Amino acid sequence: MSDVVQVSRLSIVFPSDQGPVKAVDNISFTVREGESIGIVGESGSGKSTVAFALFDSVPDPGEITGGEVTYEGGVKLFELSEEAKRRFYWSKASMVFQAAQNTLNPILRISQQIEDIADAHKMDKRAALARATELFDTMYIDSGRVLSAYPHELSGGMKQRVSIALALLLGPRLVVLDEPTTALDVISQAAVLRILDNVRRESAISFVFITHDISVIAHVVDRVIVMYGGKIVETGPVEKIVANPSHPYTRGLIASIPPLVGDLSETRALPGQPANLLNLPKGCAFADRCELKQQRCLTEMPQIRTIGPDAEAACHVL
Ligand SMILES: Nc1ncnc2c1ncn2[C@@H]1O[C@H](COP(=O)(O)OP(=O)(O)OP(=O)(O)O)[C@@H](O)[C@H]1O
Ligand SMILES: [Mg+2]
Repeated sequence: MSDVVQVSRLSIVFPSDQGPVKAVDNISFTVREGESIGIVGESGSGKSTVAFALFDSVPDPGEITGGEVTYEGGVKLFELSEEAKRRFYWSKASMVFQAAQNTLNPILRISQQIEDIADAHKMDKRAALARATELFDTMYIDSGRVLSAYPHELSGGMKQRVSIALALLLGPRLVVLDEPTTALDVISQAAVLRILDNVRRESAISFVFITHDISVIAHVVDRVIVMYGGKIVETGPVEKIVANPSHPYTRGLIASIPPLVGDLSETRALPGQPANLLNLPKGCAFADRCELKQQRCLTEMPQIRTIGPDAEAACHVL
């Protein structure tokens, strides 16, 4: 299977009054053709910043301080002209932003926004509207009403679904969805994920799902990347990560998910606070919260290494 995108040694810093915030620190991963991966981790672990970097759109004052993002066919993203990047977005790779319902243009009807995307990519407007209607149908969006509506006339959940449909409009090879179902109730959440899963099976498209709640996406991803304090601490097939996590942080994350059925007393919140990105320790960023820490964890940063088939972790104790 070929790679749709390859991220290598990516680092991103947000300068601040108190010093540089290392939001993403030297991370590498790939997304393969037709594969669906999940990026999980607590709030502030750097998930959205990675997503923005996949489109070279890290928000100001963020700065990519190292690394590379390479798309299929050896396209080096950071070397493309602005014009080439614009052509690339939507058609080859698209993103559904966290708080997607706020990213629709508030002053344009949905149909106009579809026509604008078509225009920008030299696609026939009528064909774009027809394709959008098809996608809306599969996502239980009433196209008769929604196409002529302004965003404020739609519910949060409906706007989120419209944003997802628009991300699929031009048939990209990769779609990145940042907390894609937070505005949806549990039933619509399951329905939208099922629809995306069907899209993937039909079209060999790749997905990156970003969430703080692994239980939401566990059924639709093949592989999981776990982030902590701007670093990848573990990757592996979803079955392994859920049933047999290796890194102490991942273990804590999995143990903190309340079971759908059964004994809630088994659920344990992760103790302690997320890593302080302004003041990362010399050793492992998770050490101060880790039940298994050893002396070495305080002085030496663990490097990510292979720990099993398709599985990696950054931990001295494993
Ligand atoms: N626009 C910004 N300006 C300054 N610092 C930022 C900005 N965006 C992110 N950061 C810093 O980068 C860190 C990582 O943020 P990011 O939004 O990537 O986290 P996240 O994992 O997506 O969190 P969440 O689950 O809350 O969405 C934050 O802790 C913050 O310190
Ligand atoms: Mg985020």
